[in-house]
Formats: sequence, C-alpha cells, structure tokens
Amino acid sequence: MKEYPQFTWPIISELPDQGIITCTSPSNIALVKYWGKRPVQLPENASISFTLDACKTTTSLTYRKLDNSSDDFDFELFFEGKSKPDFKPKIQKFFERIESYLPFLKQYTFVIETSNTFPHSSGIASSASGMSALAYCLMQLERKINPNISDAECIQKTSFLARLGSGSACRSIEGPITVWGEHKDIDGSSDAFAVAFPYKIHQNFEEYQDTILLIDKGEKQVSSTVGHNLMHDHPFARKRFEQASENITRLKEVLISGDLDAFIEVVESEALTLHAMMMTSLPYFILMKPNTLSAIHKVWEYRKKTNSKLCFTLDAGANVHLLYPDSEKDQVLEFITNELVAYCQNGQYICDKIGWGAKIL
Ligand code: PMV
Repeated sequence: MKEYPQFTWPIISELPDQGIITCTSPSNIALVKYWGKRPVQLPENASISFTLDACKTTTSLTYRKLDNSSDDFDFELFFEGKSKPDFKPKIQKFFERIESYLPFLKQYTFVIETSNTFPHSSGIASSASGMSALAYCLMQLERKINPNISDAECIQKTSFLARLGSGSACRSIEGPITVWGEHKDIDGSSDAFAVAFPYKIHQNFEEYQDTILLIDKGEKQVSSTVGHNLMHDHPFARKRFEQASENITRLKEVLISGDLDAFIEVVESEALTLHAMMMTSLPYFILMKPNTLSAIHKVWEYRKKTNSKLCFTLDAGANVHLLYPDSEKDQVLEFITNELVAYCQNGQYICDKIGWGAKIL
C-alpha cells in the first residue's frame, strides 16, 4: 500500500470563534481523461486538464465554534439562496472522508452558501468547482488554526481534500494546466493530489479558449460514479489506462512545443475514447446526443475548409467543449453563431477560457 502525505498537523493556536470565508473555484476540462478509479478516489490513470475561468462556484463558509464538540457534523447548506437538504448527503460524506485530516470539523457549526456562474443543470458538472471551492474555504480555516502551513502545503492539501469530494475537483485549485495522477514523465505528480503542469507551456496555449455548446441540459442518465465503477470489469480497461498514460507523455511534449495539430489529435481521440468506454461497458450507455455528433462533424468540416486549429472535447455528457487559440477567436465565434448554435438547446453556449484556479475573495 502506497503511503501519501497525511496532511495532519497539531492544532497550535486557539480555534477562532467565528467568521466567514468566501472563495471562488472554477471548473476544469480534462484533455487526457480520468475514467476508472480505485478506493478511495484514486485514479487508475493520470489525467491532465485546462483550468477554466468563467465557469465557477462561489462559496461562503460561515463558521461558529460550538461550546462542546458535536457527535455529528453540524452544517446547513444553501444553493443560490435556497436551503438545499438534498445536497446534504454528499457534503456529509465529504466531511466523513476528510475528518481525519481536519480534526476540528466537529467543533464548529457551519453555514455553507454556494452559487454557480453557469446555469444549474446546464450539463456542466458542478462537482469539480463546488467541491474544490468548499475544500478551499475549509483549508483557509485550517490556516487560521495553523498559521505555519506554507503556501505550497496549503495548495497541495486543498487539492488532496477536494479529490476526496470529487476526483476531478482536485485539478481546479491551480491553473492554467494541472495534472492529477502519478506519471513517470511529470515531476512531482501524485495520485493523492493534482499539481500545476511543471514545465514551461508554449505561448500558443496562452488565453486558450473553451466555448461550451450546451447541447442537452437534462439530467444525465448515468452518473460519473456509476461510469467509473463500470471500468472495474471492463474488457478494455487495462489497454485504456496504458493509452491514457502514453497520451500524457505525448501531450506533455505538445504543451511544451506548441504543436497544435498533435494537440488536436490527442484531445479529440481522448474525448471519443472516453465515450467509447461508456459504449463498451456492461451495462452500456451513450451520453452523446444526435446534436453532439452533428456539432463534431461541423467542426471537422470547418477545420478542413479553413485550416483552423479548432478542436472539440467532451466530458461525461452531451455538451461539446470547443477548444481553440485566442488568435482565432473572432472567426470561430462567427462560425459558432452561424453554424453551431442550431445544435444547442435554446441556442445556449458559454464562452470560457483557460484560467488560474481557486482564490479567496
Ligand atoms: O471527478 P468525476 O468523478 O466527476 O469524474 C470526472 C470524469 C470526466 O469528467 C469524464 C473526466 C475527467 O478527467 O474530468
């Protein structure tokens, strides 16, 4: 069994009585995908992602010290101003998982108020931004208790805690590109937390754009948790994990060299492979919709006609993320409004770009 940093420190100053901490944390989009995990929330392969900028969660954590520590976690949850008892079990489970790393949790009563910049049930996963924002707030409280924690330790532990809330959330703490999962070619990489891509990124990726086509805003029929679990007995699992690992090596070179044709090949292949894994699971399932495929074909046509470096990726849903260099912004947005908006539910899409991670407000 591999040992990871325990990230537990003695409580060295008085617990603060009360206060409020507010922070924002963005979503992220994987370029090499994480699909398949082992307990507890450890990835079967390394993944790499662009941290986003506009799609984010803002969370306020109000804390008040209890006179006597309680037997269970004591918290209330509000989403966009409304009490959300149905979100509580997920947070309860998160607290149970992280309690041994934040031993002061039961000594407080918390009010967690959270809101997203992207529309609710837009098909954009809010777990990455939501869990990373909450982990960030909790770590800021821990920092008040343990002011000796260094910035580096704080970032690592925040990512570590976020991972225990939702795997991909650990990649949202920093930007603009992060890697989660131990990989021989990425210095400092770990299964326990994400690290910022530790090499100089080519200027081609500066301000890289991600326009998200909201193809289908309905609830997904199969959750990521179920999808990850189906990789346990998947006939192609071993090969897939090897392929992802090779793609990390390839993408590392691409991010350094700025070779956008190679970028397109790795990223689109990863997106389609993720969905191929879903289609070849037992039970099998399809999360793409007809309009997902129509948009992909249009992107291919456009690229052929214009030599553009526009490409697509997908997460575990029907929406299409369009990735392209900042220098092509005007032309691509024109293409989207003329040819792709028709495939979006209610004509909706979100303009986002590569971003810098979580921050305190
Ligand atoms: O972190 P989860 O459990 O929501 O899984 C995320 C899975 C994908 O978005 C499909 C891939 C990834 O690496 O983000």
